Amino acid sequence: MSRRISVEVKSSRGNYSVTVGRGVERRLAAAVRRSAHGGSVFAVFDAILYSLHGTSIERAIRKSGRPLVSTIIPSGEQTKSAETVAQLHDLFLKQQIARHDLILACGGGVTSDVVGYAAATVLRGVRWGTCSTTLLSVVDASIGGKTGINHPRGKNLIGAFWPPEFVVSDLKWLATLDQTQLRNGLGEIVKTAGLAGGRLLGDTIETLAEGQPFVVEDLQGLIEPCIRFKADIVERDERDQGVRQWLNYGHTFGHAVERSLGFSRLVHGEAVILGMLGALELGERLRLPGRTSLKPFKSLVVSLCAQLPRVHLDPDDIMAAMHLDKKRDSRGLQFVLLKRPGEPTITSGVPVGTIRQAVQAMIDSNRGV
Ligand SMILES: NC(=O)c1ccc[n+]([C@@H]2O[C@H](COP(=O)([O-])OP(=O)(O)OC[C@H]3O[C@@H](n4cnc5c(N)ncnc54)[C@H](O)[C@@H]3O)[C@@H](O)[C@H]2O)c1
Repeated sequence: MSRRISVEVKSSRGNYSVTVGRGVERRLAAAVRRSAHGGSVFAVFDAILYSLHGTSIERAIRKSGRPLVSTIIPSGEQTKSAETVAQLHDLFLKQQIARHDLILACGGGVTSDVVGYAAATVLRGVRWGTCSTTLLSVVDASIGGKTGINHPRGKNLIGAFWPPEFVVSDLKWLATLDQTQLRNGLGEIVKTAGLAGGRLLGDTIETLAEGQPFVVEDLQGLIEPCIRFKADIVERDERDQGVRQWLNYGHTFGHAVERSLGFSRLVHGEAVILGMLGALELGERLRLPGRTSLKPFKSLVVSLCAQLPRVHLDPDDIMAAMHLDKKRDSRGLQFVLLKRPGEPTITSGVPVGTIRQAVQAMIDSNRGV
């Protein structure tokens, strides 16, 4: 992606663009001017991101001519909390935020989720934009207007749909991500490739054939089709009542893995990689039709599983964690499975013994191939 790409996303509150490429930071001032209607900019930075790119992002915002109020929030999932939202509300109100101001979330999915939720709720909604700085947030979290925080009873249980005014991502920001954070984003890219099938899947298999170390430049060609795929899904189902649920592919097993590890050792996208293997194993046991056509996708997932850190995974803990999953209907847990590449289906009423076999096969893949 030597060129810049811009994808238009339709939402109930109007269209917004997701712009990614080299030099995008220089376009931030124009985006801010368009969205802060004469008002101030309240920029909220992830702490690690701020230490790497904060000064240059602030300089770019100041070129808009709008007054800037900057604040930094700690990095990490714990920040997605009611306490952070209360602190942000306090700061915004103390600085007399007004409806024509703009809130800017600068960081990955944690920052856009918590800051977007604070924006959705202060003064019953202030416009906001995102400087999206992780691969996972560029291809997934920053698109679709879902904002929210965690609750002691579970992840993402409190939130609001509040689409942004714009999303921008400069590739120079992504260049400072380490291998773990690139794998984190790859989990969602590979998920999208499985759901989309066709050319995106072919390109993903080809791009990832070399294995680690991953370099962000090599992944650039996959970013645009992933953004387009997610944009299409959220336009068809903004409120998560239908096709948007496909995006949970790999997540029922993946969330259970994360929970069983106490949300440590593996990042979300790594757990989703394992989770997709669980889903593939389950699909085979349920005799879904496309086993042969899914072989290349399964080989890709297996090869990525082999590149993950080795962790101790306990099948009982994973099964127990899975039963806490909120994605269920009257027949029990719901799984997004692939009939073939590009053909997702949602299944429930699966016998526990079959789920357990799939969990065991998933665990075995993490013991080395
Ligand atoms: N709203 C949605 O639709 C949606 C979708 C998917 C995921 N999410 C949420 O997104 C979150 C995960 O997002 P994430 O993976 O981006 O996590 P994150 O925001 O925690 O970022 C991951 C790590 O990268 C660091 N970082 C950020 N930018 C960096 C940069 N340019 N260089 C180096 N390090 C950088 C951060 O400090 C953090 O340590 C989860 O809370 C998940 O629930 C939301």
